Amino acid sequence: MDSLAALMTSPVVNDVAIDTDSVLILKFIIMSVTHLLIGTVQGVIQTLPEFALWIRATGPAGHMIDPLAHAHINLVGGVTMAIMGLFYYVLPKIVKRPIYSPVLSNTSFWFSTIGVLGFFSSLVFLGIVEGNMILSGMTYLQALDAVGPIHHILIISTAILMGFGYWIFIVNIFMTVFQRRGGQPNAPVA
Ligand code: HEM
Ligand code: HEM
Repeated sequence: MDSLAALMTSPVVNDVAIDTDSVLILKFIIMSVTHLLIGTVQGVIQTLPEFALWIRATGPAGHMIDPLAHAHINLVGGVTMAIMGLFYYVLPKIVKRPIYSPVLSNTSFWFSTIGVLGFFSSLVFLGIVEGNMILSGMTYLQALDAVGPIHHILIISTAILMGFGYWIFIVNIFMTVFQRRGGQPNAPVA
């Protein structure tokens, strides 16, 4: 009760805490809908007969654009980033203490954002380049050979960034749920 009273009589500190949390959650929400916007525009474009035929005709190269880029921008960028923001909002209310580390929250936000945008752009870019090579008569393996190591470098590096976005988020959630810092009683949540 004492610490609750102290918190209530220090509105500046309290306001700062609320602001920091709100900004973080807003960032997740805005990025989630931005990714959904990109993914749904791509979804509509890939239903157009000209694009649908191009994707089918280019085989494994087209597969990188639809469904791989499409699925990940919508599911990782849109759905899971919305869930991350929701967890960061709701978890402090459930466990009655703040999220373990705002720094980790912020880091996972940037890894997820840069990772999924990079993964999406790499898949679409490589899909278009290699797809055009296939249409000009190359096999997929010849196209891969022509593009060189940059194909794997782009996909693996952006996949790792996405992975870290998830893993940092997961650590932060587990620490929030299971850790009692310094044996202190749970701090009240604003
Ligand atoms: C305007 C909205 C959307 C349109 C027009 C659209 C359109 C499409 C099309 C044309 C395909 C390819 C189907 C095929 O190749 O057989 C597809 C696949 C897919 N879409 Fe969407 N999509 C939309 C939104 C979404 C959203 C919001 C999500 C996820 C939250 C999503 C997830 C997927 C997945 C996972 C696949 C791959 C399915 C598979 O494994 O074959 N899509 N979508
Ligand atoms: C670090 C995170 C992730 C990485 C690096 C990753 C990577 C991949 C890769 C390489 C494939 C390709 C399989 C192939 O066709 O050869 C794939 C397929 C797929 N992934 Fe992910 N993934 C991740 C997270 C997720 C998450 C969180 C979801 C859903 C919420 C998801 C949904 C899908 C779907 C629906 C497919 C199948 C698409 C299709 O072929 O129809 N992925 N993923």
